[in-house]
Amino acid sequence: MDVLTCLGIESTADNLGVGIASSDGRILANEITTHVPEEGGIHPREAARHHADVVGDTISRALATAGITSRDLDFIAFAQGPGLGPCLRTGATAARALSSYLKVPLVGVNHCVAHIEIGRLTEDAVDPLTLYVSGGNTIVTGYEAGRYRVFGETLDIAVGNCLDVFARAAELPYPGGPAVEELALKGEKLIPLPYVVKGMDLSYSGLLTAAMGELRKAEHSLEDICFSLQETAYGMLGEVTERALAHTGKGELLLTGGVGANKRLRSMISLIAEEHGAAAKFVPIRYATDNGAMIAWTGVVAYMSGVRTPVESSFIDSRWRLDEVEVPWRS
Ligand code: ATP
Ligand code: FE2
Repeated sequence: MDVLTCLGIESTADNLGVGIASSDGRILANEITTHVPEEGGIHPREAARHHADVVGDTISRALATAGITSRDLDFIAFAQGPGLGPCLRTGATAARALSSYLKVPLVGVNHCVAHIEIGRLTEDAVDPLTLYVSGGNTIVTGYEAGRYRVFGETLDIAVGNCLDVFARAAELPYPGGPAVEELALKGEKLIPLPYVVKGMDLSYSGLLTAAMGELRKAEHSLEDICFSLQETAYGMLGEVTERALAHTGKGELLLTGGVGANKRLRSMISLIAEEHGAAAKFVPIRYATDNGAMIAWTGVVAYMSGVRTPVESSFIDSRWRLDEVEVPWRS
């Protein structure tokens, strides 16, 4: 069978990513351009304007890296949701234009599904339980009967967002996760902070408020607050992940998303996997944070099982849930 080539566009938040993947499982390009806000957090409209400015260049770079021309592309994939509306719309517009210009099919991809599929590819995972932790998502998921089921998720803010907002209040550099991680290494006292697990779901807003309260009170060192924040935040993740692993009996535990770079979290995940006889797998950071390669690769697996997204149904869905997506390639 002929090898097919897919270009994928990721634009759910502050990264504009363009990846190219082939149907024999090779990633040929993974180019990323990041929007850095002048101050504060991400502004959806500004980020979207940035994406519109750089998308042409980023596509050219990806084609050059892959050593192909646009005429070699067999179909175009794009992140259709979930994410920030204006950002998603920019990526979708570029994908539609490219697909109609080249007269090749369009495949809309769910961003969360893509985080799992790229991990299955790069880490040779077959049927993992996945912990996906980033600035916008906190999800424990695994495949069951035709879909990726959500076993646990945050009820309010994502764990990465909790770290970033705390770090901004503490005047630490952005993104907050690595800065908090570094300071936490020097902390040793565990300050009691709200540990909120409800059933299988998590809540991080109370933890954030309390940690910021500790900053203002200044009774403890910043190192101890960072240490306690991490221990509490990751302890909650560990509890829910372990229960889902025990419940599903899956043999692999996959960690992905930007927060997955954290060494303390990785060691907890390794320990949990070991105790349950599962293999711990960590998605390499260039494929774990938002990237175009994961969209291109998920476009490939979806296309190969017959998924197509006609232009008239290619509107974005900023709240498209992971567990609403049919994944025919897994059945
Ligand atoms: P998504 O759209 O999937 O929600 P995102 O836009 O938040 O993704 P990512 O790059 O996947 O992008 O994740 C960024 C998050 O990862 C930030 O919240 C950042 O603080 C966090 N992070 C990065 N490195 C570390 C680290 N070493 N420890 C903890 N958190 C980290
Ligand atoms: Fe993401």
